[in-house]
Amino acid sequence: MKIFPTLKYASSALLLLATGCALETEKPQAYLPDAQTEEARVYIEQCGACHVVPHPQRLSAAAWKDMVAVMDRRRQERDYPPLTEAQRKKIMFYLNEHAR
Ligand code: HEC
Repeated sequence: MKIFPTLKYASSALLLLATGCALETEKPQAYLPDAQTEEARVYIEQCGACHVVPHPQRLSAAAWKDMVAVMDRRRQERDYPPLTEAQRKKIMFYLNEHAR
């Protein structure tokens, strides 16, 4: 949609409103809340390495805690280095802030 970039944006926003669910086929910066923050940067970098970056409203804060623990195992299985404490703190801060 080269000719109507604003139209594209508007329809994404409408879809987001209608479904409460992100269009995760777009660049994460386009659908994540507070995407310009340092926490979001680390979240995008670390949680988008193997799959699209999940929208934080998918889960509750408690469920994110469990999910991140599962992802620690997925990292191990694939010989990814574990998250540093600093990275984990930022990711959990970001998820807690924007969870459903
Ligand atoms: C080393 C690769 C890897 C990294 C890095 C990774 N994931 Fe995943 N993720 C997976 C795999 C593989 C699956 C699909 C199977 C599964 O559920 O384990 C998955 C699935 C998911 C799902 C979808 C589960 C569902 O049922 O729809 C979510 C949400 C998720 N990851 C969140 C995260 C978050 C948050 C991070 C950052 C902390 C992260 N992932 C980092 C490998 C990874």
